[in-house]
Amino acid sequence: MSNSVVTPPKDDAASAPMLRLSDVEKSFSQGKSALHVLRGASLTINAGEMVALVGPSGSGKSTLLNIAGLLENPDRGAVQVGGTHTARLSSKQRAKLRRQSIGFVFQFHRLLPEFSALENLLIPQMLAGLPRDEATTRAEQLLAMVQLADRAGHRPGQLSGGEQQRVAIARAVSNAPNILLADEPTGNLDPETAADVFSHLTAIIRNTGTAALIVTHNTELAKKMDRVVTIRQGEILEA
Ligand SMILES: Nc1ncnc2c1ncn2[C@@H]1O[C@H](COP(=O)(O)OP(=O)(O)OP(=O)(O)O)[C@@H](O)[C@H]1O
Ligand SMILES: [Mg+2]
Repeated sequence: MSNSVVTPPKDDAASAPMLRLSDVEKSFSQGKSALHVLRGASLTINAGEMVALVGPSGSGKSTLLNIAGLLENPDRGAVQVGGTHTARLSSKQRAKLRRQSIGFVFQFHRLLPEFSALENLLIPQMLAGLPRDEATTRAEQLLAMVQLADRAGHRPGQLSGGEQQRVAIARAVSNAPNILLADEPTGNLDPETAADVFSHLTAIIRNTGTAALIVTHNTELAKKMDRVVTIRQGEILEA
């Protein structure tokens, strides 16, 4: 896969892990009291490493992913993306770093319903500044990689659930992110389709050296990853 849209690593990236969360704390207000969801969560993921994130419903998995993906700020603690200390960045710089370095697969794919599979892959690349013809070539390659070359013109509503999720995975890696964050990417799929989607995801991660953090309730899939970490009482425990 071409890495032409990857930005050069920043700061001390050569020696740094791809993603590092240090003592992250996050609370939400709940009437007069506060709900302490993350209470000092720390996690490091290196290039090419696939980490499963498990924990019961409401334990803070999506909250952690949103913070790792620079969609939300922690109350305390640090988030380092490829050696860049994100606390120092303006919101514009954070958005740029997110676009360039991070791919998201949401639990419910969130594809744009009005656009074809191919266009859903083109849009993030063109927003990142890639010319249309280059973005198209890459989008076609990615659809072929998830075995959907013959569905490029279908809108999400014309695709099966598993096909939509494969498009979402292809979209998440369309900008060749250094970090892939996936929130139960196979959660709403039947076991056979889930295994199929997961194998596509694995192939992409292994081929590109992406650091991946994947929320899953599926213990079979978790076991196939390099590490399994659990959120318990707001902290990350290594298995
Ligand atoms: N914006 C918010 N405002 C208030 N409370 C929130 C907010 N976001 C999340 N929470 C609360 O924080 C807790 C953790 O939520 P989170 O979505 O991270 O859980 P989760 O581990 O992803 O759960 P699930 O497995 O059900 O998706 C929950 O109790 C939730 O109600
Ligand atoms: Mg969640």
